[in-house]
Amino acid sequence: MPGPGMELIGEEEKRELLEVIEGGYLFRYGSEDNPAFKAKVYRLEQEVAKLSGVRYAVATNSGTSALLVALCGLGVGPGDEVIVPGYTFIASISSVVYARAIPVLAEIDRTFNLDPEDVRRKITPRTKAIMAVHMLGNPARLDELKAIAEEHGLLLIEDCAQAFGASYHGRPIGSIGHAGCFSFNIFKTITSGDGGMVITDDEEAYHRFFAFHDQGHKPLRKGVEVGERPLIGLDFRMTELQAAVLLAQLRKLEVILSHLRENKRRFKEGISDIPGLEFREVTDPRGECATILTVIFPDAETAHKVAEELGTRVVAGSGWHVYSNMEQILNKLTVTPEGCPFTCPYYKGGEVRYWKGMLPQTDDLLSRSINISIGVSDPGLGSAFGVTMRDGPDEVERKAEEFRRVAMKYLS
Ligand SMILES: Cc1ncc(COP(=O)(O)O)c(C=O)c1O
Repeated sequence: MPGPGMELIGEEEKRELLEVIEGGYLFRYGSEDNPAFKAKVYRLEQEVAKLSGVRYAVATNSGTSALLVALCGLGVGPGDEVIVPGYTFIASISSVVYARAIPVLAEIDRTFNLDPEDVRRKITPRTKAIMAVHMLGNPARLDELKAIAEEHGLLLIEDCAQAFGASYHGRPIGSIGHAGCFSFNIFKTITSGDGGMVITDDEEAYHRFFAFHDQGHKPLRKGVEVGERPLIGLDFRMTELQAAVLLAQLRKLEVILSHLRENKRRFKEGISDIPGLEFREVTDPRGECATILTVIFPDAETAHKVAEELGTRVVAGSGWHVYSNMEQILNKLTVTPEGCPFTCPYYKGGEVRYWKGMLPQTDDLLSRSINISIGVSDPGLGSAFGVTMRDGPDEVERKAEEFRRVAMKYLS
């Protein structure tokens, strides 16, 4: 099973869905004086905003569209550069391209998230935003990244797709930058198959996000309106069906997080004394989602042998999430031959180039690491080995023992 929320789909989701189907309102807008209209999308937005400690949320049909809404809503566009980590899902990069800006790839550090030192090195007069991606359920170094953003007058956008429910030293993720974006696809903490959310505490940004996600309209419109639209928008709306499932899933969030955290603690304890084995640095162990346990070997060869014997892959070979495996970015495969935004006349940074090996620190770390599933089993993350949300202490101990046996064979 892909993610923890998906494992717990059951009666609660059925009941919520039935309410929508029986009510007959599948669209996020309905007639407020009809009790059959349950306004699930609106309720979900309010609940996620509250949980995140911000005033506003806009539900979208995916995490990718949430990122595009945030970028375009915050005014990122032609001529701008956005600093993005080289270890992330393609959507963090492609959303920048579709906002018509230039993604600038930066190194990750031992948190497997953006390295603030490299972010500093990558800042130019054209930098408009830093996109902090909280990979594998773990918050990036948000204090440092926020300080850099403030020092240089940059936007900080949090890609929280893989970390719904995480917090950073007491503050919910997504609430620290100018906008936070979530995904509810099947690999995420909670799911509705697909879905997303963008949150902010800034009223003006909220109005722009809402307008961009729904044809330029104002927030919470009740029906069709004419005129006074602040911008040209698109349609990234969430349906009542998705929101119904997510409302049920949201009520399971605490159970999911505490189960994953306990399983991760137990797994880590079971393998923590293997000589030469190190762990990914976690910026806030109490606030992370604990979906994945990432281990680091002294060299790539050992990591590769262990991965192979466990039936999995090193992170560098896991495909989707590693810049050096993204041929569409490396080759700038835009949808039309003009090559915008890379050839945009507003862009004054010269030729844009991406190549395998451009992020040696990232390449080194990913080549000698393995992602162990605690609750997200995703071949695209290289987390084929491990446990799932349904597993209890016995299975965790069994899998930890299996890992220990194989790792010890090559490390001792
Ligand atoms: C880091 C990251 N950003 C963005 C996304 C995009 O989310 P979605 O698949 O909902 O469009 C994902 C999804 O896998 C992701 O992992």
